[in-house]
Amino acid sequence: MVKSATELAKRYILELTPYIAGKPIEETKRQLGLKKVIKLASNENPLGVSPKALAAIKKALVGLNRYPDSSAYYLKRKLARYYNLKPENFIIGNGSDELIDIIIKTFVEKGEAVLTADTTFLEYGIIARVNGCRLVAAPLKYFKYDLEAIAKRINKETKAIFIANPNNPTGTYITNKELENFVSSLDSGVLLILDEAYDAFIDVRDFPNSLQYLNHKNIIILKTFSKAYGLAGLRIGYAIADSGLIACLEKARQPFNVNLLAQVAAIAALEDKKFLVRTRKVVLEGKDYLYDNLKKMGLAYVPSVANFILVDVGKDSLDLFKDMLKFGVIVRDMKQYGLNNFIRVTIGTKKENEKFIKVLKKVLRKEKQ
Ligand SMILES: Cc1ncc(COP(=O)(O)O)c(C=O)c1O
Repeated sequence: MVKSATELAKRYILELTPYIAGKPIEETKRQLGLKKVIKLASNENPLGVSPKALAAIKKALVGLNRYPDSSAYYLKRKLARYYNLKPENFIIGNGSDELIDIIIKTFVEKGEAVLTADTTFLEYGIIARVNGCRLVAAPLKYFKYDLEAIAKRINKETKAIFIANPNNPTGTYITNKELENFVSSLDSGVLLILDEAYDAFIDVRDFPNSLQYLNHKNIIILKTFSKAYGLAGLRIGYAIADSGLIACLEKARQPFNVNLLAQVAAIAALEDKKFLVRTRKVVLEGKDYLYDNLKKMGLAYVPSVANFILVDVGKDSLDLFKDMLKFGVIVRDMKQYGLNNFIRVTIGTKKENEKFIKVLKKVLRKEKQ
C-alpha cells in the first residue's frame, strides 16, 4: 500500500509550526481590492534600496548566465577591510536565516540542545527542530533576554546559544557589561551566536562591541543586509567568527548559496554611507514621532533600539491587524509569540508613520463605540 505523506515524513518535522512571514503588499492589494498599502511588518528599510546597490545590480544583470562566485571573494575582502579582519573570518549566507541553519547543521548533533529565549526570533527554534535538535527556551525578563535564566539552563547537552541583540520582537538589548559577564562564565564547549541584525539602528552607548570576543571564545556574530542596507529581497547576510569556526561552516554550505546580484549589491551597499546615514535618521526621527503619539494615545510600548516597536494595543492583536489591513496598513500581530495583545510595528517613513497612527486611532476608536 502507498504510504501517505504524513507517514513518510519525520515525526519532528510534522510537529513543526511553519514560520509566518509578514503579509506581502501585493497579496493585500489583491485580496482587499486596495490601491495603496503600506507594510510595516517585516522591519525592512522604508527608503528602498541603496542607490549604489541598485546601480551595481543593473550593471551585473547581463552576467546572469554565469554561476555566482562560490567563494564570494570580493565581498569577503570588502568585509575584511571594513572590520579590519581577514576574509577567512567571514562566511556569506542566503540571508542570515541560512547561516542559522548552517551553524546548527555544522555544530549541533541530533538530540543536543539549542538554547535561546522564549520570545525571540522564531527561526532559531524552527531551524533547530528541523535539524532534529532540542530547543530550550528561557523566559524574558521585562521583555529583555535574561542571561541568568539562560545560564541556569546550560547543561552538558547544550551546544549553541542564540542571542538576538537587539532582540526581535521586543527591541531590547543586552549591555556591554551584561554580555561581558555572560561570556566570561561560558564553558568552552558551548557556541554563542550573537545575532546583530539590527545593530545599525543602535542609539545607546552601552551596546557591546562583540568583535572583541572573536579571538578567545567560540562566538559567531551574525549580520544581515536585509534591514539597514535595504536588500531583504536579495537574501544576503554574513557571519563573523574565528577562521577555524568559519572553515567548519564552509563545509556545510551549498556551493552557490549566494546569488550574483546579492554579492555585487552588498559590496556597493557597504560603500553607500550616505544611504545608511539617511536610513538611521528616518528611523530615529520616526521612533520619536511614534513614541510621542503612542504616549498621547495612552498605549504602552517597549522602548526599542531597533527599527521596530512592540506596542500593547490592549485588545486581541489579530483582530487589530485585520482591522488595520482594511485601511491598507500591514503590521505584525504577535500571537505567534504568545503576546496576544501586542503588535510589532516597523518604523517607516514620516508619511507611513503618520498613516499608521491615523489608522490605529481610527480602529481603536471604532472599538470603543
Ligand atoms: C533577529 C533576526 N535575525 C535574523 C533575521 C533574518 O535576516 P535575513 O533576512 O538576513 O535572513 C531577522 C529577520 O527578521 C531577524 O529579526
